[in-house]
Amino acid sequence: MEKFSFLEWIVDRLTLNNQEKVTCFAPTNIALVKYWGKRHEKLNLPVTSSLSLTLPDYGTITTLEISDTQCDEITMNGQVLGINDPVAKRVSDFLDIFRPYTACYYRVKTENNIPTAAGLASSASGFAALTLGLNELHGWNLDKQTLSMVARLGSGSACRSFWPGFVIWHKGERVDGMDSYGEWFAQAWPGLCLGFLLLDPKQKKISSREAMKKTMHSSMLYQSWSKQVDVDLESMKTSIRDRSFHGLGELAEANALAMHATMMGARPPIIYSSSQTWGAIEKVWQLREEGIPIYFTQDAGPNVKVLFQEENIKTIFQQFPEMYVQHFM
Ligand code: PMV
Repeated sequence: MEKFSFLEWIVDRLTLNNQEKVTCFAPTNIALVKYWGKRHEKLNLPVTSSLSLTLPDYGTITTLEISDTQCDEITMNGQVLGINDPVAKRVSDFLDIFRPYTACYYRVKTENNIPTAAGLASSASGFAALTLGLNELHGWNLDKQTLSMVARLGSGSACRSFWPGFVIWHKGERVDGMDSYGEWFAQAWPGLCLGFLLLDPKQKKISSREAMKKTMHSSMLYQSWSKQVDVDLESMKTSIRDRSFHGLGELAEANALAMHATMMGARPPIIYSSSQTWGAIEKVWQLREEGIPIYFTQDAGPNVKVLFQEENIKTIFQQFPEMYVQHFM
């Protein structure tokens, strides 16, 4: 296995005080200023910083126990995954990082209350829950910043799932990634709502990992994206500080569309949106024309998340009756 100083650093700090079995929950998060592109593949170091909103009611619950077999056994949403399953492989690859030290295999049972791989960021909560599980199972006692760096090795966006409200993932400058972690920025304000429209629960055809790589290497729009993200991040921080819903919504929408534009500029182009995606976006814009403040964001999948305020929930439910909602108190 390739060695990185962060991995040596972390392994040096680990203690082993094994519990029999632990169960941990981690929430998912939705980026309002997106992470798209890595400066280091294996360490999941991003080109740009990003900012997300944690959804406390939606995420992953993971039960972890040490197994006496010679491979990991991974069950996801009640289904045992074969060793060649891409999700099982990704989980085992992550556990391999610590294996030289922990010297064991695991039984991992994981349940999402959000559809997996449908652009609803279940890998974020999945790797955050797994990291919390390892921390508890082995009694590592890591602080949140270190947990964030560990989870980042499994999935970049997972590093933002350790705090409530708005969280910034600092891109960092160091080659070992020791300055690339999440940090709490602000509480989500009361009355803010995020709804997700489940338009298409199918597995996506191309993973965000692959799509990021292809975009970075072949899209002529990528350079302008990375410059724009720095500007968007500063404006988003101001909108959050001022509790400007319009500021937040406009930026989230523009940033998501710009990310998708970089993918459309890739050769061959990458398009996650389906006709249902465009239908939902048109409905959002139509509602806005009618004076209802509602905005959308979209990740690496066809599903759309909408941002609105509690006072408009009735009207919005009429348009999107199939929506799941996260209310912030
Ligand atoms: O962490 P990954 O590899 O699942 O990538 C997440 C990418 C986006 O969801 C599209 C953006 C983000 O910042 O969460």
